[in-house]
Amino acid sequence: MKIGLIIHTRTGHTWSVAETLCQALQEQGHDATLERIEAVDDAAARPEQVSFKACPDIRPYDALIFGAPVRGFNINPVIQAYLSQLPSADAKPAACFVTMHLKRPWMGGNRALARMGGICQDKGLKVRGQAIVSWSSPQRDQQIEHGVSLIKALFVSQGQP
Ligand SMILES: Cc1cc2nc3c(=O)[nH]c(=O)nc-3n(C[C@H](O)[C@H](O)[C@H](O)COP(=O)(O)O)c2cc1C
Repeated sequence: MKIGLIIHTRTGHTWSVAETLCQALQEQGHDATLERIEAVDDAAARPEQVSFKACPDIRPYDALIFGAPVRGFNINPVIQAYLSQLPSADAKPAACFVTMHLKRPWMGGNRALARMGGICQDKGLKVRGQAIVSWSSPQRDQQIEHGVSLIKALFVSQGQP
């Protein structure tokens, strides 16, 4: 299966989780590719203010995984702008994950994932699973392992590429 991992990251946390996930999917036999969303201004306050230097195309992929950092207890405006401009996606399977600094999922992670999943569904994507990694948590490594296992398991039944 051709899987695109489409990632927004500022300081590299989300990217590092995506690298681990990408490798796990490749070991599972998938043709998995990491792509980075790049905004002209990563700190744009609202999605309407975001313009892109790099805006990955989802059309080549059979399945999508979106990852981004939490911002201001909510969805990050860069991933919000990116997801909002996607074309209709023909019921492709998808998963989302976020990284955050604070330890509790309700401090932005849950809300960010709910918004990301909602926009994906509006685009026709079938969101199968979600994961949160808290960077300051003593359980960070276990959360990464859990998130990677959970997401890669979503694509097991899809067979080999
Ligand atoms: C402007 C700003 C706002 C943030 N807001 C939150 C927040 O509400 N909750 C949280 O847990 N982390 C928050 N963070 C921390 C990031 O979500 C966290 O460090 C994330 O792992 C960074 O991912 P990255 O390295 O891929 O950019 C914020 C960071 C920035 C720069």
